[in-house]
Amino acid sequence: MNREIVPATELKGTITPPPDKSISHRSVMFASLHEGVSTIKNFSAAADPHSTISCFRSLGVEIEEQGSTITVHGVGRDGLEEPEEDLDCGNSGTTMRLLSGIVAGAGISCTLVGDESLSARTMRRIIDPLEKMGAEFEARQGDYAPLKITRPGSLIPLRFDLPIPSAQLKSCVLLAGLFGNVPTRVIETVQSRDHTERLLKLGIQSDGNTRIISSSREDDILEQSYNIPGDFSAAAFWLAAGAIHGNAEIHLPDTGMNPTRTAFLDILQEMGANLTIGEQRQEGAEPVADITISTSKLKPIDITPERVPNCIDELPILAVTMLFADGVSRISGAEELRHKETDRLMAVAEMLEKAGAEFTEYKDGLEIHGNPDFIPEPATYNSYHDHRIAMSAGVLSLLADGTSSVKGAVCTAISYPSFWDDLQLLTN
Ligand code: S3P
Repeated sequence: MNREIVPATELKGTITPPPDKSISHRSVMFASLHEGVSTIKNFSAAADPHSTISCFRSLGVEIEEQGSTITVHGVGRDGLEEPEEDLDCGNSGTTMRLLSGIVAGAGISCTLVGDESLSARTMRRIIDPLEKMGAEFEARQGDYAPLKITRPGSLIPLRFDLPIPSAQLKSCVLLAGLFGNVPTRVIETVQSRDHTERLLKLGIQSDGNTRIISSSREDDILEQSYNIPGDFSAAAFWLAAGAIHGNAEIHLPDTGMNPTRTAFLDILQEMGANLTIGEQRQEGAEPVADITISTSKLKPIDITPERVPNCIDELPILAVTMLFADGVSRISGAEELRHKETDRLMAVAEMLEKAGAEFTEYKDGLEIHGNPDFIPEPATYNSYHDHRIAMSAGVLSLLADGTSSVKGAVCTAISYPSFWDDLQLLTN
């Protein structure tokens, strides 16, 4: 499906961000590993968390859905069943990587499959530590899904220095560790999103920038009622739209404010954005707040590598934002973007090119010549079936001087099914 986007004369209104994707995945996983019934409220309607639900159903967990409320009849750590069919992770890297840790830990033999995009993403990063923990893998070309996993012997605890600041990798190893009698420890020097350790209340030793997180059978997976906060990474599209559009005021209630996710908010503030952040409240283990963004005069900014993990999913829309800053902005140390649902540096560079922007693409980032008066050329953008690329192109198109379109626009359903409706709502 191609989506046409007409430039907006104003962007005004209230958008409640969709439920957080990362927390939705984890709530189903942890509720399944808890022995007893859990309720998850405001569960994501997006495709990725539903891939997690369907995998856990295949592992013998009864999961009921009533609108956005999910009831999980958790089977406990030792109650998962060997699935009769392949576990289909769809487009979801989080499902494949975290689930690999769980099935390897539990000693469940199974095969994890994914769509074309997921099958092209390396799983080497999780295969290495899980093999050290005693799991055996058969992977396509050694690195890619389909991933056949078995764990013939007992689980070997691991002390693992994270080679990349990835929450998926960290969580994978910690979830496998939950099945060991001796603690597994993960050492991180650059903090990535911490939903796993927060929700499971795992032990953390912290010494300056180094955090050692442990997991073992001793960690009870406690009953908790989950109420999923709004997804900051989805709200980011409207934060950008509000900041760059000449006539905008957008309210974003109940937005997740986990500090390991909100670097984009700090970046916007440093760029001089017109932002108001309401008082923070706690929603279970996670902080939330209401945010308002209005038309802003933006300064350029230099994003250095250590900032990247806490805004990794926001970098495509940050690149769009930088186009409207008054000067040259840079993103460096972001090579990891080439390993997402698509090569996001390539896809963003193509988008900027089509919009008529002045920029340079590097192996690990971008240099963007911004201008507050920049008017994107109307264009037909390729989404590469990547939800965050499609949404970034959608926001950029709102400022063009003619109708643009986004190819394969339905892919926003991966994380934000109502994205195009919300865009319409703001422009009416
Ligand atoms: C996620 C972690 C990030 C992020 C992804 C979701 C998670 O990936 O890009 O959208 O839920 O743990 P990496 O950990 O691979 O950077």
